[in-house]
Amino acid sequence: MCGIVGVTGNDRSVSILIDGLKRLEYRGYDSAGIYVNDEKGHDYLVKRSGRISNLEAALTPEVKGLAGIGHTRWATHGVPSETNAHPHYSNDERFYLVHNGVIENYQQLKEEYLKGVEFKSQTDTEVIVQLVDKFVVDYKMDTKDALLKVLRLISPDSSYAFALMDREQPDTLFVAKNKSPLLVGLCQGYNMVGSDAMSMIDETNEFMEINDHELVIVKPDNVTIEEFDGTEKKRDSFKVDMDPSAADKGTYPFYMLKEIDEQPAVMRKLVQEYFDSDDQPQISEKLLQAMAESDHIYIIGAGTSYHAGLIGARMFEKLCGVPTTVHISSEFAYEQPLLSQKPFFLFLSQSGETADSREVLVHVNEHNWPSLTITNVDKSTLSREATFTLLLYAGPEIAVASTKAYTAQIAVEAILAKALGEYLSRDAAQNFDLKHQLGTIANGMQSITDSKEDIEALASRYLSKPRNAFYIGRGIDWSVSLEAALKLKEISYVQAEGFASGELKHGTIALIENQTPVIAIITQDRTAGLTRSNLEETQSRGAAVLTIVSRHLAHEDDNIIIPDVDELLTPLLSVVPAQLLAYYTSLGKGLDVDKPRNLAKSVTVQ
Ligand code: F6R
Repeated sequence: MCGIVGVTGNDRSVSILIDGLKRLEYRGYDSAGIYVNDEKGHDYLVKRSGRISNLEAALTPEVKGLAGIGHTRWATHGVPSETNAHPHYSNDERFYLVHNGVIENYQQLKEEYLKGVEFKSQTDTEVIVQLVDKFVVDYKMDTKDALLKVLRLISPDSSYAFALMDREQPDTLFVAKNKSPLLVGLCQGYNMVGSDAMSMIDETNEFMEINDHELVIVKPDNVTIEEFDGTEKKRDSFKVDMDPSAADKGTYPFYMLKEIDEQPAVMRKLVQEYFDSDDQPQISEKLLQAMAESDHIYIIGAGTSYHAGLIGARMFEKLCGVPTTVHISSEFAYEQPLLSQKPFFLFLSQSGETADSREVLVHVNEHNWPSLTITNVDKSTLSREATFTLLLYAGPEIAVASTKAYTAQIAVEAILAKALGEYLSRDAAQNFDLKHQLGTIANGMQSITDSKEDIEALASRYLSKPRNAFYIGRGIDWSVSLEAALKLKEISYVQAEGFASGELKHGTIALIENQTPVIAIITQDRTAGLTRSNLEETQSRGAAVLTIVSRHLAHEDDNIIIPDVDELLTPLLSVVPAQLLAYYTSLGKGLDVDKPRNLAKSVTVQ
């Protein structure tokens, strides 16, 4: 994980780096640091453990520079501490390096080339910067060649986005990447690099892609790209249409609440983007053709995106009649199931950068299998490398716990399934009045978010004290219960499990104690009665039970009633109270809702 940013040719370097790091804090917040050089013989290294606000507080007025690099860390090698914070530097204090990724063979490199060198940190990154220094000082190589030599020694399974500075060429950023994301930002009279476009959006909207195994030299007035064998590459820049203010918190105390509240608007935006005036979904014919020619859809995702895939799979099977399976990317990459003759791969990734999912996509591309990425980030790695992309149009999602991206993913899957089903002349798809349903859902989401006070009271009554909780449901409700439990555990640290309600009695019911919260999601006609029976089984063993129920299935004593919609689309509504229950539980405990411990928003290590 981690986020990196660099700038050269601007005397506002310090504030540019800090603003960039703030926009990258979603990638990790264990420590942060900057190195800046004023190109007149003064340079400064400031690092702090914890949040970027700690780093900012440590900056004194003399810390200034024309060029610099910055880093926000999600610890992999070495505990979160100031010593392990980046930038790391060589012992002669000539080279400074920020790194996002993992160098798998760093121990081996250390043993082979750096015997006797004293290390200040426990990180893999320090090995790289000391090695560059060694090749420059001992082997008399110039910096570029030394870095190239190091890059060739790094094992191919490693991941990195590097920005290196040499005190003797302070206007130059030496940049390279493999697997981890990195972009060049082209500004007026100066240039930048950053882990994503958002980290540079206050300065520019014009970017240049960097591919794996390229060395990029960034100076204030030019950028050169070459492959490791020295071949120069020409590359066009591209523009990104992003509104920096969309990533502001406004008057909300936390981004998560803002993002939960934005869901109705996201549904309406998706209708606007994907439907024409005849209420027909607009999906490119080429994509539909590629999907129609396949005999099996493999949905790949991690965490919340995997959970969104579980809902989508039902849609592709029911509306299109195409067998569809869903796979956790980190599992699929290393234990691939026996594939069908004509597979089609659908990647779900809010960030478009998740390393586990990308590992699968690299493999898919090696076989020339067709693929689609559904993502919130245009031009993200997974979007660039898949055959097709569909966007979520959810606006930046900043809170670590995903909310609006999950519902947007389900809605886009529904739009795609309807379009594909119609393309395949399936009745179920033709009769599915999706545009109208999405409008009803937007209003339904609004009515749920309007009842925040009731949900806050339920969170305080049922979830503020217990260590454990269960969400239960059957079928599609079970899939939502997995997502509901993930939300609760990741931000409130309640050990929560999403469970198939019929399966409880086969072992897990032993965990139910007096006042263990069990929350049932009940939205499906066929299974409502069965889930209620399972809920009662837990209640008679002391559980404190709560219900989230579709209106037409509701009983008098149910707790949260959600509006009626098509049974395939109920997750878009049933998840919203669960998001709010998680939010208020975390808030009630005084936790940092947006930045839960040990997590980062974009997981770019495997
Ligand atoms: C949980 C959450 C994560 C992400 C997962 C995949 O709230 O956000 O589980 O869903 O890390 O991330 P993306 O969707 O960016 O590939």
